[in-house]
Amino acid sequence: MSPSPRSVTRAAHAKINVFLRVLGARADGYHELESLVLPLSLADDVTVTEAARLAVDVHGDAKDVPAGGMNLALVAALALAETCGEPRRGADIAIAKRIPVAAGMGGGSADAAAALHALNELWGCGLDRETLMTIGERVGSDVPAMLAGEPVLMRGRGERLTPVRVATTWWVVRPFGFPTRSPDAYRWWDEDGAVSGPDPGALIAAAEVGNVELLGHALYNDLEAPVARRHPEVADAKAAFLDAGAPGAVMSGSGPTVVALARHLGQADRLAEAVPGSFVVSGPPGVA
Ligand code: C5P
Repeated sequence: MSPSPRSVTRAAHAKINVFLRVLGARADGYHELESLVLPLSLADDVTVTEAARLAVDVHGDAKDVPAGGMNLALVAALALAETCGEPRRGADIAIAKRIPVAAGMGGGSADAAAALHALNELWGCGLDRETLMTIGERVGSDVPAMLAGEPVLMRGRGERLTPVRVATTWWVVRPFGFPTRSPDAYRWWDEDGAVSGPDPGALIAAAEVGNVELLGHALYNDLEAPVARRHPEVADAKAAFLDAGAPGAVMSGSGPTVVALARHLGQADRLAEAVPGSFVVSGPPGVA
């Protein structure tokens, strides 16, 4: 038998929600969702190394990242160690942070998913995908989708996943210097009249064939209006992208990040120049 590795690194890819449909509040405090989750080229790196105790260290653009018990990668590691039958197993989890924090881009969930994959290997747990998904679901609603590592149609609370083969597209990302908390965004949706967007069939078809014009027009997020009402920067950024010629723009997840679809890389570069604070990404990434 080959020895377990001393150290394992995994890319933790950010995501955007190409559409996000909120279907209703549930008795358990969550909301029933439907969303196309697209992993992006933008990623954190998560490196796990054998150690006596479990600890997490976040470096890079790490402002606002919880380092203690609330860090999702640490929560995931504890849950994995328990399921693996070694609750006292240790590791240093080093996160090189590039994904904007509390921005609707799945950064914390992506780190948790990458930590689960990496620790499963480091510790030689040998847990299958289904078991990792079950652990991920307990850590956070977006973690199963991030574990999938490919574009997925997400339903339920976030745990029901169907892979979708989508064409690669270019996007321009405009994060903001303030976070939005998911519970607030969903509560605002409840308070503002619980409006659900249309059937996403045509949008999904446009994403599959890479029809950027149709896709741009079809982008939507039911949480966008409630968040933009409290944070006008969101509506301003969307308008700036559309004014600069983007075929579509939408808030991602529970926000506040706004993403614009571009027709091609050249247009993406021009949109990023037109909207200060934005940068270009593509999705899905070549290697999951
Ligand atoms: O699962 P997670 O901890 O990421 O969820 C954070 C919060 O986002 C939940 O407590 C809930 O308020 C809201 N949420 C929701 N419905 C979902 C996912 C999240 O209402 N499907």
